[in-house]
Amino acid sequence: MDKFIITGGKALSGEVVISGAKNAVLPIMAASIIKPAIYVIDNVPDLRDTKTMIKLLEESGAQIDFDNSLLRIDSTKCDKPFAPYDLVKTMRASFYMLGPFMSRFQKAVVSLPGGCAWGPRPVDFHIKALEKMGANIQIKDGNIICSGQLKGTHIDFEKKSVGATGNIIMAAVGAKGETIISNAACEPEIEDLCNFISLMGVEIEGIGTDELKINSLNSEVDKEIHYSVIPDRIEAATFMILALITKGNIVIDNINIKHLDIVIEKLKEAGAFIDILSQNKLHVKYSGNINTVDIETKEYPGFPTDIQAQWMALMTIADGDSKVKENIYSDRFTHVAELSRLGANVKVRDGVAYIKGVSQLIGAPVMSTDIRASASLILAALSCEGQSSISRIYHIDRGYEDIERKVIGLGGDIIRVR
Ligand code: EPZ
Repeated sequence: MDKFIITGGKALSGEVVISGAKNAVLPIMAASIIKPAIYVIDNVPDLRDTKTMIKLLEESGAQIDFDNSLLRIDSTKCDKPFAPYDLVKTMRASFYMLGPFMSRFQKAVVSLPGGCAWGPRPVDFHIKALEKMGANIQIKDGNIICSGQLKGTHIDFEKKSVGATGNIIMAAVGAKGETIISNAACEPEIEDLCNFISLMGVEIEGIGTDELKINSLNSEVDKEIHYSVIPDRIEAATFMILALITKGNIVIDNINIKHLDIVIEKLKEAGAFIDILSQNKLHVKYSGNINTVDIETKEYPGFPTDIQAQWMALMTIADGDSKVKENIYSDRFTHVAELSRLGANVKVRDGVAYIKGVSQLIGAPVMSTDIRASASLILAALSCEGQSSISRIYHIDRGYEDIERKVIGLGGDIIRVR
């Protein structure tokens, strides 16, 4: 199994170009099933998760070419609405196949995703909403078997869910009549999905808000649909934190600064100098101190849970005590024990991490447990005195394109050992 050997202690500097957003491209790829056409999608990151989604699409009969961030999907011959356990178990986002299959085929067999490293992640909102739209749902042999012509209705989610919002938007395209979704997730990745689906001749009102109205116009789809995926705000935030944690100086390119408001605000409070160079480029620089800043995770536009672990790594060497409260997944703290191996002082109680800043982390062997926990360990290891090894880095390959090439480009000392 691959691992990273990292020698920390250098101030990283230079320019890094951010890739397309993982959590936007995955539902967009699934959505290409909805209407038979050829889709040409640009700014697609080359990730393990992208490859898993390619396999799922191929399994359903799509033809795919992927080269140099350009993805071409021909969904005209898709005829098998089935997402097998072998693929679903490696990536929960496989569950995004359910909505598109129902939309196009009025039937779907999708393996149920299990729990994940930081606890249970139910899919009850997806199921209840589809039932309300008229689907007949059974669970057999670990699969969800879903069938029936969906009808537009009013779905009012009890809690904002990115995945359930995405799945129901995609299901609504094939439903008869209008679907209204209240308390919809407003994440930029959902906005991107809506913009992509609009190109299929679907009218979506309220894009970017928590109230969506979806009307399928049943129009012919253009033979070729072209789209470019938004930049990855989580990868961008990870590199912004890297600049501060290594007391460095990094220009971050190919971003959408509007998606990073809360991260910019919190990093400024933590003492970073941030210069907005344009709508898609900014400069983050250490300016002499890392201040303590408490955060709590919230739905967009709040502080993202997907940046919590990286923020905690920064706070472990901040000047005093701070708190990190996790509101989306109360147990998402598997990185704490590993950060402690590097000398961090963190205690978790009732969904809150209490952090006492130390002056310096010291290198040690650690293990990654999920995508963002791995990112936080890479950040911490790069700030450490001495050498660290990070095992199980297949997690990072799921969500960060070319991370070692990007870190080396900034002067970091990171080697992949196979
Ligand atoms: C998406 O997961 C992201 N994944 C996650 O990113 C991200 O952490 C999460 O949204 C929150 O922002 C993708 O986009 C592929 P949710 P998702 O449904 O859709 C509860 C990463 O590191 N809930 O918004 O699965 C749920 O338990 C990943 O890139 C139910 O109770 O998350 C959670 O508490 C990891 N029932 C909350 O809602 C349901 O049916 C929000 O989860 C669905 C969700």
